[in-house]
Amino acid sequence: MALETHPPSFRLRIDAAPILDVRHLRVEYRIGRRRKLPAVSGVSFDIRRGEILGLIGESGCGKSSIARAVMQLPPPTSGKVLLEGEDLTTLPQKRLLRLRPKFQIIFQDSVSALNPRRRIGEAIAMPLHITNSGRPSERRQRAREMMRQVGIDPENDSLRPFELSGGQCQRVQIARALITHPRLLICDEPVSSLDVSVQAQIINLLDALRCRYGLAMLFISHDLAVVKNICDRVAVMYMGRLCEIAASEDLYHSPRHPYTATLLDAVSRIDKPQALASGRTVGGIITPPENPPQGCRFQQECKRKQRLCSETEPEMKEVQPGRRVACHYTL
Ligand SMILES: Nc1ncnc2c1ncn2[C@@H]1O[C@H](COP(=O)(O)OP(=O)(O)OP(=O)(O)O)[C@@H](O)[C@H]1O
Ligand SMILES: [Mg+2]
Repeated sequence: MALETHPPSFRLRIDAAPILDVRHLRVEYRIGRRRKLPAVSGVSFDIRRGEILGLIGESGCGKSSIARAVMQLPPPTSGKVLLEGEDLTTLPQKRLLRLRPKFQIIFQDSVSALNPRRRIGEAIAMPLHITNSGRPSERRQRAREMMRQVGIDPENDSLRPFELSGGQCQRVQIARALITHPRLLICDEPVSSLDVSVQAQIINLLDALRCRYGLAMLFISHDLAVVKNICDRVAVMYMGRLCEIAASEDLYHSPRHPYTATLLDAVSRIDKPQALASGRTVGGIITPPENPPQGCRFQQECKRKQRLCSETEPEMKEVQPGRRVACHYTL
């Protein structure tokens, strides 16, 4: 895949104050009358201006649940989601609606994310319409400008989604998400439904827009090669918890959590970066269990297991500056 992402030295300076600060996030789903599934537990991370944080882990481990909880769609069961210091989980509905333009999300399935009856120019301008910003002619103008930026001819603004390709629909989604100049963009598998060459174009576009606007991004993907290329830092998730978070290069070069090592090893052995997308699992049970075992969640698969691992759940702790790992016996 021809990626032209900017090497770290050319990237926008990453400011110290986080745009997004997620603390002790917990997401529970009701299943049946009495049962609850803790899909996400004790997850904390931050993202700074101009930074892309990757989020990887096997299918069902809770990545999209984190994305939805950050967006407050719906809000998490507990924990804080601070956007530029303001806790979204405690905001009154009105204030939350006013802040919505500042944090946006794009999904995997770009075609169904768009209203089939709406012309794409109107779809892109819709966030401005909802927030009542500008006159209709100004909104149209901004939508056309946004189309240019994402590489769609503004003359096509009256087309409808079914008249576009998957890649073009994804560009429309990106234009619609960025028209309000958000501070944070969440990308939940933004390219996995696209052809490989189109994937590269969209990744390059996201990277260019990040550099231009200093966007902070949470980038969820099964494609570990793309994550390595585009993300500054990467968080690894297993059964609803984070197990490691580190600079991309460090993580891929020398994983410190046994699960990270297993995950990277499994993918490199089958030599296909998209292997995880095809449903291949590393550890067997991959979704968060309804009743988590005592101790570490990875203990049954872990070659380094000792008694402590089945007694006490390891907390995330800093093992070197900027790197946190949740393991009693890190690699
Ligand atoms: N609305 C819901 N109600 C009940 N359970 C849910 C709901 N949404 C997700 N789950 C469960 O929560 C767990 C985490 O799901 P989530 O969609 O966050 O995983 P994911 O990491 O995004 O997976 P994938 O890589 O397949 O997209 C899974 O076990 C899933 O079945
Ligand atoms: Mg998902």
